[in-house]
Amino acid sequence: MLVHLLLLWLLLRVTVCNESSPSPCGTDEFQSETFCCQLCPAGTHLIKSCQRNHSESECVPCELENFMNHHNRESSCFRCSQCRHDQEEVSECSQTANRKCQCKQGTYCNSENCVEKCLPCSSCPKDRVIRQCNATMDTLCDTFKSDSGTPGCHCLCLSGPLTVIVVIAAVIIIIAAVIAVIWCVLKRGE
Ligand SMILES: *[C@@H]1O[C@H](CO)[C@@H](O)[C@H](O)[C@H]1NC(C)=O
Repeated sequence: MLVHLLLLWLLLRVTVCNESSPSPCGTDEFQSETFCCQLCPAGTHLIKSCQRNHSESECVPCELENFMNHHNRESSCFRCSQCRHDQEEVSECSQTANRKCQCKQGTYCNSENCVEKCLPCSSCPKDRVIRQCNATMDTLCDTFKSDSGTPGCHCLCLSGPLTVIVVIAAVIIIIAAVIAVIWCVLKRGE
């Protein structure tokens, strides 16, 4: 049943679409009121549609601080974005590409959480840096290393099995001492 409905819907879609857009224009063209006109190339925008079928439209280069990165029929180019003061320019604004900006050294932005401003890079204890901070990713610290090898532990650092043995020995000694004391007290009372 569902499959039939799906097929019907697909058929309807194909038929309707074919009927509603019998465009005689090519992929690099657009339909003006009367003709198929060539789209304006990247870096330019449209001034006037073509006056003969399949011919060139009248296009002019983008104005300063404006760009257009694809074939188009727009009446104007897009304004290039500005770098914020906590960002630096990675690539310039050109007629075909927007200006690219990134967070300045020592700061980063890895998500939508920081569209307003760059975040300061985290710092790791020394020798614990797995990956340095860059404009798009925070510093990555080796947290496992800093958990086990506590700095400043110079005296008696026991690990694993040795710790268990020491604890058991201590417990035995304490129990023995308690028994000895009790035994002495009982002995004296006799
Ligand atoms: C930051 O580092 C990551 C991982 O090394 C990398 O994929 C990314 O392209 C870098 N970003 C920049 C802006 O260099």
